[in-house]
Amino acid sequence: MQRRSSERGRQGLVWAALIVCSVLAVLVIITGVVVFAVYLIYQPKMPYLHVPAAHLGRLDYDQSGTLGVEMVLIMVAENDNRAAAAGFSDVAFTLSFHGIDVALLRAGPFEVPRNSSLPLQYDARAGPVPLDADAMAAMDAALKAGLVPFDLAGQARTRWRVGLFLSVRFWTHLSCRLSFFWPNGTALHPNCTSRAH
Ligand SMILES: *[C@@H]1O[C@H](CO)[C@@H](O)[C@H](O)[C@H]1NC(C)=O
Ligand SMILES: *[C@@H]1O[C@H](CO)[C@@H](O)[C@H](O)[C@H]1NC(C)=O
Ligand SMILES: *[C@@H]1O[C@H](CO)[C@@H](O)[C@H](O)[C@H]1NC(C)=O
Repeated sequence: MQRRSSERGRQGLVWAALIVCSVLAVLVIITGVVVFAVYLIYQPKMPYLHVPAAHLGRLDYDQSGTLGVEMVLIMVAENDNRAAAAGFSDVAFTLSFHGIDVALLRAGPFEVPRNSSLPLQYDARAGPVPLDADAMAAMDAALKAGLVPFDLAGQARTRWRVGLFLSVRFWTHLSCRLSFFWPNGTALHPNCTSRAH
């Protein structure tokens, strides 16, 4: 009598486990279908930043080893999403020469409408920043060659809404080299993008 009731209890447990597993499997399938449908309908694209143009207006460097620069940088926030506006925030970039930070570029939060872009213009006036011996040697060589390299690195947080309720957030990172002919300050093929390749 006792044994039979414990056996029935075990069977009940097995059934309960089977039902829970089936429900979970169905939920996983439904979630997959919904995610796939949302993806097909909205085809979400990662918003990104790129630098199509830059110009070095001034470069003050003397043998005491301090560097001052004036640079105009155009950074464009791109939102290729056809159905969603994208928000950008925590935009922060560092401009450096030979590992020495020259300027910090920031922007407040902003929104880019669907399927469009927004250009930001930075007029960076920086320095005088003291260079170390390595950077001084690099600057001497760069001026002699007539091509001065700067590095631009940083990130922004992006957010865009997919459908009614799904909000996607990502950091987008950018790290690239900007080289300028000197003395005319023309940028050599600025080729900076945070788009993942
Ligand atoms: C997105 O913009 C491009 C050009 O900027 C335009 O040709 C295209 O029709 C637009 N697509 C939608 C869905 O608005
Ligand atoms: C700047 O100088 C470089 C090298 O001398 C040259 O190739 C480039 O065309 C010049 N840019 C302008 C706008 O004159
Ligand atoms: C930009 O950089 C990428 C990778 O570094 C390279 O494949 C591409 O040819 C470059 N484009 C230009 C215009 O320099």
